[in-house]
Amino acid sequence: MTSVAARDRRLADRAVRRVAFTAEELGDRVRALGTEISAAYRPEDRLLVIGLLKGSFIFLADLVREITIPLQVDFLVAASYGAGTTSSGDVRLLYDPSTSLAGRAVLIVEDIIDSGTTLKKLLPRLQARAPASLEVCALLHKRLGTDHLEPRWVGFNAPNEFLVGYGLDHAEDFRHLPYIASLE
Ligand code: IMP
Ligand code: MG
Repeated sequence: MTSVAARDRRLADRAVRRVAFTAEELGDRVRALGTEISAAYRPEDRLLVIGLLKGSFIFLADLVREITIPLQVDFLVAASYGAGTTSSGDVRLLYDPSTSLAGRAVLIVEDIIDSGTTLKKLLPRLQARAPASLEVCALLHKRLGTDHLEPRWVGFNAPNEFLVGYGLDHAEDFRHLPYIASLE
C-alpha cells in the first residue's frame, strides 16, 4: 500500500536537486543549539521563544524539545512586501504575539536569513516592547545582505540556492520534507 505521504515524498524527491542538509545533520545541530540555549539562560529569565511563521514551525518544534529550562512559546506572522508591491519594503505583522514581551528574555526563531530585511525591520519593533533581552536563533544564514545581521545562534551557513524542506517552502510546497534540499 502506498501512503499519500510516501507518494508526496517521491514527487518531492524528483523535484529536488540536491540534499543540502540531511535529517540526521539537522537533528545533530538542533540538539547542539538546544544545549547552548539552555546554558545561556537562567530559569528565572522566563524565556519566551517566538517562532516566525510559517517557515520556522518544524525547527521550533524540534528546538524547544532540546531546551531544558522552563520556557513559553508564541508565534509571529510577518509579511514583507516584495519589491514592486510598495516602495517601502515594509514588514507587516499579520499575527502579533498575545504574550507581553516586557521584561522577558525573548528568543526569535527564524528559518532562514536571506537579505536580512525581515529581521532588520522586525527587531526594532519588538525591542520597543521592552523585553529584558532579545536574541535570534536562525537555522540557516545565506549571508547575502550588505551589512550582515548576525544572530546570536545560527544553525548552518546556507548555500546561495533556493532551499526547501524542514519548514521551508516553494509556493507552499515541500514544507514537510524531513531534510533540506535545493530545488531544481
Ligand atoms: P530576508 O528578509 O531576505 O532575510 O528573507 C527571509 C525570508 O525569506 C525567510 O524567512 C523565508 O521565508 C524566505 N526565504 C529566503 N530564502 C529562502 C529559501 O532559500 N527558501 C525558502 N524560503 C526562503
Ligand atoms: Mg519566512
